[in-house]
Amino acid sequence: MFKFNVFLVFSSVLISHIRSEDPYYFIKQCSIKNSDINQCLKESTNHLVANMRNGIPELGLEDPEPVFIDEIHLALGSGPDGYRAIFKDIEAYGVSNCTITAVRSDIETNQFQFTLYIPKISAKAHYESSGILLLIRASGGGNYWGEYEGVKVKAYLKAYKVLGDDGFNYLKLKQIKMDFSVKEIQMGVDGIHNGNSVLQAALNLFINSNAQELLKEMKPHLKKKLLLLMNDFISNIFNHVPYEAFISDQ
Ligand SMILES: *[C@@H]1O[C@H](CO)[C@@H](O)[C@H](O)[C@H]1NC(C)=O
Repeated sequence: MFKFNVFLVFSSVLISHIRSEDPYYFIKQCSIKNSDINQCLKESTNHLVANMRNGIPELGLEDPEPVFIDEIHLALGSGPDGYRAIFKDIEAYGVSNCTITAVRSDIETNQFQFTLYIPKISAKAHYESSGILLLIRASGGGNYWGEYEGVKVKAYLKAYKVLGDDGFNYLKLKQIKMDFSVKEIQMGVDGIHNGNSVLQAALNLFINSNAQELLKEMKPHLKKKLLLLMNDFISNIFNHVPYEAFISDQ
């Protein structure tokens, strides 16, 4: 009896040890035989995001907040007096609160499309501007803040498999595309260097009444920056996690 108990304790310790040693605990493996593999991939990605919120040291992901972007350019109108703004040292909070709402996949050709929903992103930055906006000479700089609600992101990626030295396959990114929309935008500027409160009020009125238009103008550059971030983020995961941990052929 004693021996049997010792055996039980020993084997349960062993099992929990093996479990806690699962190197890919942040991935939920999906079977290629699963008739609804897209649903499984959606759950797996949400499982990854949930783990990311607490940090995944194995992937060098400590704290997902905030997301940093060095700078984004905005240009309205052309010519020497066209309005130009540069937003610098951008910090965006809230991206890790995202939910994956849909996944479409073609496992054979390693193509995946993810639809994400982020309830709210809050951003702050410094900006510098030059040129004329609404007949006002709007040269100067200051602080920018923005609140973006109801953010929908679609990301498409195509990958290929490479056999690693360890005998497992690893995915490499071949192509990545993304687009996004924002339902509600509120933003403003303050702390304008040249200390002109009339200019500040005019700018705030202008940017809030034209928020979607401004986002549209900023989108090409913003997308480029976001694609770089996504590329690094996804490549990091693909380099650390073998294909077989994501998708099993059993
Ligand atoms: C994430 O969502 C929760 C619940 O809505 C909220 O309290 C929290 O501030 C959000 N996190 C960030 C970084 O925005």
